[in-house]
Amino acid sequence: MKTNVRNNVNWVGKVDWELRKFHGNEYSTHKGSSYNSYLIQEEKTVLIDTVWKPFAKEFVDNLESEIDLNKIDFIIANHAEIDHSGALPELMKKIPDTPIYCTVNGVKSLTGHYHQNWNFKPVKTGDSLELGNGKKIVFMEMKMLHWPDSMASYLTGDNILFSNDAFGQHYATEYLFNDLVDQDELMNECIKYYANILTPFSSFVEKKIEEVISLKLPIDIIATSHGVIWRENPTQIVEKYLAWSKAYAENQITILYDTMWDGTKRMAEAITQGIKANDKSVTIKLFNIAKTDKNDIITEIFKSKMILVGSPTIGRGISSATAGILEEIEGLRFMGKKAAAFGAYGWSGESVAKITEWLKRSGFEVLNDGIKCLWNPDDPSIAQCIDFGKKLVQG
Ligand code: FEO
Repeated sequence: MKTNVRNNVNWVGKVDWELRKFHGNEYSTHKGSSYNSYLIQEEKTVLIDTVWKPFAKEFVDNLESEIDLNKIDFIIANHAEIDHSGALPELMKKIPDTPIYCTVNGVKSLTGHYHQNWNFKPVKTGDSLELGNGKKIVFMEMKMLHWPDSMASYLTGDNILFSNDAFGQHYATEYLFNDLVDQDELMNECIKYYANILTPFSSFVEKKIEEVISLKLPIDIIATSHGVIWRENPTQIVEKYLAWSKAYAENQITILYDTMWDGTKRMAEAITQGIKANDKSVTIKLFNIAKTDKNDIITEIFKSKMILVGSPTIGRGISSATAGILEEIEGLRFMGKKAAAFGAYGWSGESVAKITEWLKRSGFEVLNDGIKCLWNPDDPSIAQCIDFGKKLVQG
């Protein structure tokens, strides 16, 4: 049901408490999500975005209980991914001629998804739409934040930036506003969202935020398309994005390993011992790659200044879990992080060289050739691993 955002702007989206996987199985949503859609009722009535396809009928039924659908003058599709456009086919069956405002790339995406010849009105940055009562919507292209078609819409008078995915989080809450929810939970979901979705586009994030700041528009509310609406100190999330976009790292080292008979695990623990011996200030976190949610691992990597990746040699390569996370890491193009590899082996021992090469081509500063142990590490091997850890944080 609708929730008032400000004056004649209401939230008409869907909170999805059950969601546990998003983008197929690519993104874990431990705390659910929401698909935020907004209805603006000035002299003109505007609908901004819709909801994910499974909730299309519920969304349209709810909307119909609020207003006569024929009173909707314009639809704005800030982004064409199905989580925001999924109810358009259901809605457009009822109001087929209603103009849909989106970017040129949005026309391509929406046509590609739904193969319908809807009444598209392509817009670009600076174009605007008069709503009456002295208010208008101003469009801003947000190319590659995070798709080519992404855009934001700004409502003058109420000073609301409808930012779509940018500044959002996968976080279900019945309270909708940032000041009404658990702040730690909220920020954890924000950084996870940035780390897993926006990291490759960090250079665009910085440029786009600078461009929006240069417009000097008063922004009182940032109404995202997932999770909370930022109404209390909304610029806090903009400042976070600026920090995260600049090769972000905390004083943390994350050690990732997979293990068959605990050899590589014992190496990870011995390396940890070495790091601790030489640096009491650094946060060290260990994760068994095969047993840990991959998106949570990515979030920890994002927060780290250095990562260590270990796998036993299996056949002539590495474990499938290690290969999976390395593939993910390579695609995200982290900046400014150091790395090294380790692993136990039984005869030929290719894993360490393979991980080292993968880390190099993923943009990490690889500190050395890594360390490997034949069989389960004995006392001298453990001592070597401790020494390896010490050297990683020397000087
Ligand atoms: Fe929330 Fe890019 O869709």
